[in-house]
Amino acid sequence: MAEAKLIDGKAFAAGLRHRVAKGVAELVATQGLKGGVPKPGLATVLVGADPASQVYVRSKGRLAAELGMASFDYRLGPETTEAELLALIAELNGDPAVNGILVQLPLPKHIDTSHVLLAVDPAKDVDGFHPVNVGRLGSIASGAPLDFPVPCTPLGIAMLLQDTLGSLAGRHAVVIGRSNLVGRPVAQLLLRADCTVTITHSRTRDLPGLCRQADIVVVAIGKREFVRGDWIKPGATVIDVGINRIVAEAGKTRLVGDAAFDEILPVAGYLTPVPGGVGPMTVACLMFNTLQAARRAAGLKVDSA
Ligand code: GUN
Repeated sequence: MAEAKLIDGKAFAAGLRHRVAKGVAELVATQGLKGGVPKPGLATVLVGADPASQVYVRSKGRLAAELGMASFDYRLGPETTEAELLALIAELNGDPAVNGILVQLPLPKHIDTSHVLLAVDPAKDVDGFHPVNVGRLGSIASGAPLDFPVPCTPLGIAMLLQDTLGSLAGRHAVVIGRSNLVGRPVAQLLLRADCTVTITHSRTRDLPGLCRQADIVVVAIGKREFVRGDWIKPGATVIDVGINRIVAEAGKTRLVGDAAFDEILPVAGYLTPVPGGVGPMTVACLMFNTLQAARRAAGLKVDSA
């Protein structure tokens, strides 16, 4: 059997960013936005000084600006109280220049994340984490339009799969991991695309046996090289959401996924690399979600995902 083809998330994300930039320009030129707002806007909120979060937030703000959107960057000290954060969110909810609000997670321990997620206006919830949007995704009908924000990494995975495989109808997808960030929402999106979905987790029995039945394996479990080559049905598609930093040769570090890349490559039909697979899609989908929020705020239909 031939070696698996790599799914080029970097190239697909570049195409999606281009599509978003075009959509932003069209919205600005032809429709205008309500209340004299010149362009769609994304507000990012970071509490504390976690270095990785600082990098993520900076790259989100920079990309929003590159695609023609306004970017509002809020950096709050580590001692910020929950009440102060909720007051900022209320202000952003009421600001017509802000179409999307992203509160970077994790938050410091003294802040209750569920209170914060609940405070974001569901129409501006470009992470798709508000319980109203979680519930909408959890009750969506087969093939129904995504006319509400959907979590970015799962949306990116669904786009990659549809682009690579075409119709997903009837395919058996095994999702490894049940997190609110990836596992559960990706399972809902695959169900919407008419897959037969099995959600698995740390207590699942005979995970290798279940995986061997899968046409699609999505692994988001946070354990390096967890899925082995002999778990994969020949020709299946493997989507690796893992980002694990390991120490490699000469004390240098490198990223590896949750799937054993070298073992799976000769068996699978398609495989996402780490890095350069799912990762670049997440931030591109955040931009897509922000544009869609701005389109909805202007009373326009959303673009199909
Ligand atoms: N931290 C890690 N991933 C995410 C994400 O998708 N959204 C937010 N807001 N914070 C994160």
